[in-house]
Amino acid sequence: MNTENRDDKMKVLIIGAEGMLGHDLEDILGVENEISTTTIYTLDITDLDKTVKTVKKINPDVVVHAAAFTDVNGSESNQDMAYKVNVIGTRNVAVACSKADSALVYICTDYVFDGEKGSSYYEYDQPNPLSVYGKTKYLGEVCIRDILNRFYIVRTAWLYGFHGPNFVTTMLNLAKTNDSLSVVDDQIGSPTYTVDLAKAIAELIKKPRYGIYHITNSGSCSWYEYADEIFNLAGAQIDLKPVTTEEYPQPAPRPKYSVLENYNWKMEGLEDIRNYKEALKEYIKLLKVKEE
Ligand SMILES: NC(=O)c1ccc[n+]([C@@H]2O[C@H](COP(=O)([O-])OP(=O)(O)OC[C@H]3O[C@@H](n4cnc5c(N)ncnc54)[C@H](OP(=O)(O)O)[C@@H]3O)[C@@H](O)[C@H]2O)c1
Repeated sequence: MNTENRDDKMKVLIIGAEGMLGHDLEDILGVENEISTTTIYTLDITDLDKTVKTVKKINPDVVVHAAAFTDVNGSESNQDMAYKVNVIGTRNVAVACSKADSALVYICTDYVFDGEKGSSYYEYDQPNPLSVYGKTKYLGEVCIRDILNRFYIVRTAWLYGFHGPNFVTTMLNLAKTNDSLSVVDDQIGSPTYTVDLAKAIAELIKKPRYGIYHITNSGSCSWYEYADEIFNLAGAQIDLKPVTTEEYPQPAPRPKYSVLENYNWKMEGLEDIRNYKEALKEYIKLLKVKEE
């Protein structure tokens, strides 16, 4: 295994490349000229033998694991599926990395925290997930830490991008058919653009600085403030009303305040990740161009 040896082109395997983040990882890691990417679309990570065989055959320096059961509400009623993909699947990817002697990047979530801290979460804060999704994603982290000693656990939040349904596109679609909307104003987080996250991951893996990283766009807002910003940027006319979590009950409990501090990222001397408003502006502008 040669992650420490950066003389040769680094070989990265992306698992989950058909997903929203995975697509951008493929595009962005692929254009970094010192990174050669391989993507697999057909692998079911819940199949241990196939996962080990596939990773061993490709023999990558680094595996980026962006596959997951990401239906937060659906995980409450389908706990077995969430567990199978997010825990067993991640265990399988970790075993495969161990056998192929590859380092692993695992994408995790702010939902590993309970949101009770009242200020931003550092990488060393104790997780205490509230939902089935958060619990299974956190157990994925535990599997990796038990099996591997060369990994980057990347916790991120509130993702949006071009290759999957997300809060921004949901809001813009709702604005086409509604005059007014109610959006939760008492859950705070950091909306994060998958393009910025993929660029950060490309930067992170250039060196063997293994560990846990919080990586989000900077700044924070409530879902209501986020929606307000989206409609302002898109020029959509809509009567937006703030509501509480209690007024908008959902199957999965969410943390009230899950802002992540990109602390290890900063400690590594890496460049601050731009504010979410700036990233959102670019995204909405590009969405409009694509629609034309
Ligand atoms: N979206 C967010 O707001 C958010 C926030 C924080 C962290 N994350 C994490 O970021 C990562 C990427 O999220 P995303 O939003 O890009 O998710 P996504 O668009 O749902 O992509 C996940 C991909 O994983 C695939 N997958 C599901 N089960 C699989 C299996 N058994 N074997 C192989 N692939 C499987 C899915 O395929 P199918 O569609 O065919 O099932 C999907 O293409 C995930 O680890 C997620 O937990 C996401």
